[in-house]
Amino acid sequence: MKKKLLVTGSCGLIGSECVRFFSPKGFSVIGIDNNMRKEFFGEEASVEWNKKKLLEEVENYRHYDLDIRDSKNIEELFRQNQFDLIIHTAAQPSHDWAANEPYTDFSINAQATLNLLENFRRFSPAAVFIFTSTNKVYGDKPNSLPLIELKKRYELPSGHRFYQGIDESMSIDQSLHSLFGVSKASADLLVQEYGRYFGLKTACFRGGCLSGPAHSGARLHGFLSYLVRCCISGKKYTIYGYRGKQVRDNIHSYDLVNAFYHFYQNPHCGEVYNIGGSRYSNISVLEAIELIEKITEKKLNYDYSEQNRKGDHIWWISDIKKFRSHYPHWNLTYNIPRIIEEIYIKQKEIYKE
Ligand SMILES: NC(=O)c1ccc[n+]([C@@H]2O[C@H](COP(=O)([O-])OP(=O)(O)OC[C@H]3O[C@@H](n4cnc5c(N)ncnc54)[C@H](O)[C@@H]3O)[C@@H](O)[C@H]2O)c1
Repeated sequence: MKKKLLVTGSCGLIGSECVRFFSPKGFSVIGIDNNMRKEFFGEEASVEWNKKKLLEEVENYRHYDLDIRDSKNIEELFRQNQFDLIIHTAAQPSHDWAANEPYTDFSINAQATLNLLENFRRFSPAAVFIFTSTNKVYGDKPNSLPLIELKKRYELPSGHRFYQGIDESMSIDQSLHSLFGVSKASADLLVQEYGRYFGLKTACFRGGCLSGPAHSGARLHGFLSYLVRCCISGKKYTIYGYRGKQVRDNIHSYDLVNAFYHFYQNPHCGEVYNIGGSRYSNISVLEAIELIEKITEKKLNYDYSEQNRKGDHIWWISDIKKFRSHYPHWNLTYNIPRIIEEIYIKQKEIYKE
């Protein structure tokens, strides 16, 4: 019998990668996505194109236009299906947006996660539950690191204990999170608790920047994807604060989903992993602009606003050694140039440059 996978947010960047990754591995896949991304960020962020492609191209894919907050229909779905794996990626993903509608943000990110966890506990307790958490659970604590300003990026002194990246020992307490950071941290704690308290197989993957060609990049979300889109289309890009020297690590959706697969094959209870491009794959905004201009052979039209995004990290690189030590056969396969080149090829195809 085929194994059963539930993916929430199945038409988004990570959700759609999960659908494509697990289907050939013998899973029948049920996806939930109601295109809230379009509601959050407008038509340019609609994931309708991705839903169409999944339905056309992926065998054993069943789609539900459900809202994860719809507790009645979610319960019905769990009653009807015994899942082996649940990957929860649906979210309101932007901290700026969260401040506009705190109730909506919390109801999707926190409340609906509880809803899914309860149904998982009641109807598929033997399943593995994977949650795409975020490095924003650490709030702006990373900004208190002794960063030094270089020509094109901020950096940590090479002897600093977090030089290779920030690990899970950083406190998630007493810092500025943004409402998004709080709703995700609430969900992260719930997912951990269903592992620790109930002994279920759960994991939180606290991602740095997640990237890949299936991102419907928008001004408020999808850093590299949106930069490439602006470069191709001539649309103006605004850098918000830190002189454009803020550093992000970027992990390709394939590498992340492959990490989920490793966890699924040998799961633990209530685990937490920082996961991202690490030292292998990171870039500042200024460096990204330079590289994208080189790859696309176009000049980006951009301006600079002194005001940084509230609570935005100045420097984030994930230390992934905990995950690596648990799963030594997993590896990052995409670095920044490869990620950007792939996004560029895909976007040229979608927007018919
Ligand atoms: N992209 C990043 O850089 C990043 C970084 C760290 C963590 N994360 C987390 O990873 C996860 C996946 O991110 P992504 O980049 O794939 O996001 P995404 O926006 O591309 O995908 C999320 C999908 O969920 C859907 N969705 C949202 N609300 C829904 C609801 N109420 N009911 C049903 N579907 C709903 C959206 O329509 C969207 O297609 C999110 O939980 C996000 O918080 C993302």
